[in-house]
Amino acid sequence: MKVVLGVAGGIAAYKACSLLRLLSEAGHDVTVVPTASALHFVGEATWAALSGKPVHTDVWSDITEVPHVRIGQEADLVVVAPATADLLARAASGQADDLLTNVLLTARCPVVMAPAMHTEMYEHPATQANIATLTERGVHVVPPASGRLTGRDTGPGRLPEPEQLFEVCVRELARGAGGAAPSGAAAARAPRGDLAGRRVVVTAGGTREPLDPVRYLGNRSSGKQGYALAAVAAGRGAEVVLVSAASLEAPAGVRVVRVETALEMEAAVRAEAAEADVVVMAAAVADFRPSSYADHKIKKTHEPGADGSADESAPVVTLVRNPDILAGLVAARGGAAAPVVVGFAAETGDESASVLEHGRAKLARKGCDVLVVNEVGADVTFGKDDNTVHVLRRGSDAVLDVGPVTKTAVAQAVWDVVTDIL
Ligand code: CTP
Repeated sequence: MKVVLGVAGGIAAYKACSLLRLLSEAGHDVTVVPTASALHFVGEATWAALSGKPVHTDVWSDITEVPHVRIGQEADLVVVAPATADLLARAASGQADDLLTNVLLTARCPVVMAPAMHTEMYEHPATQANIATLTERGVHVVPPASGRLTGRDTGPGRLPEPEQLFEVCVRELARGAGGAAPSGAAAARAPRGDLAGRRVVVTAGGTREPLDPVRYLGNRSSGKQGYALAAVAAGRGAEVVLVSAASLEAPAGVRVVRVETALEMEAAVRAEAAEADVVVMAAAVADFRPSSYADHKIKKTHEPGADGSADESAPVVTLVRNPDILAGLVAARGGAAAPVVVGFAAETGDESASVLEHGRAKLARKGCDVLVVNEVGADVTFGKDDNTVHVLRRGSDAVLDVGPVTKTAVAQAVWDVVTDIL
């Protein structure tokens, strides 16, 4: 198959040499398209020798063959590793100022990008917005690994190992060959990705359990992780319904069903899950709700009693259990058409067990297929853009540790696990 290996100007360019080797040894015809800055890190001679082909960075060589159009058109896969902040920005804004960006605009095959840069650059809202745009357009953005960076610093931003990138390339090539990625102009509009043809339901946000017209019992969930899961699933081609108790802006291509309480969320999930391939319960559903709802605002001072004295005692709120929506989904399953059910577990760890131990016990108790365990506390996770999670799978002792990375990167990792199950 024809693979274009785009290389942007980052120190991790040296790892792309190993990726090129792996792709060539697997029998693929690899054309390397570095950016001019990439050649500061690994020279033209290396790329030409390893690929056995001439290497160009601009559109002015071999002009009669129209390489700025042909290379992209003929590709079965374009993989950009490393993708720097600058390359992501140029790709997201549709620029065509060198050969690689021209290739990205003309390619109608699966596109993989592996961002690698310093943590600050990766986490900058501009870079995250560019990644979100590219993801929504169907680019498979591989989350960076966390660890030692070029200097003394450590954090998310490392290019994943060449073997991991190679695996992603193999999967994307198979997907493209399977017809999931349309070619021609239709590709720019049609959903592409490994979730194409799948219907998924994602819940997000913290439910609010009203006490009276102005007060409610709530929790600190922002809904950002659920929204990231919905956005990434849509970017990977799924038809997505987001049952949301949060008031964030709807991600592109996602149908949002707004709910407030656990009971409303349960009804919406039940209705939507009937036709779904996957249900992801990322919402923080209140386990309890007030047993009664006061039609009028509960006043601090009640009406004077028979003896004329005002009653200033504090009201007592009685709670009743809410249904466990996740447990209900698991219990209702039967037959091969049952959806894959993903639960989230917000854990703090305590003196009796670690976060992971609590997670394993919850996976066994809830019976879902995947449990994403995240460590929570007043200062971590809630409302933040980053998340650290451990992904557990039913019937397996393996733990996938993800983070600290953005909630979009966590979402990519969760969907990787789910597509594996599907
Ligand atoms: N969940 C649900 N319905 C509820 C409570 C939770 O569907 N009434 C789902 C959440 O969306 C999440 C998972 O169950 O996917 C785990 O939620 P969590 O609050 O961590 O677990 P609980 O079962 O409530 O356990 P506990 O609070 O005792 O740790």
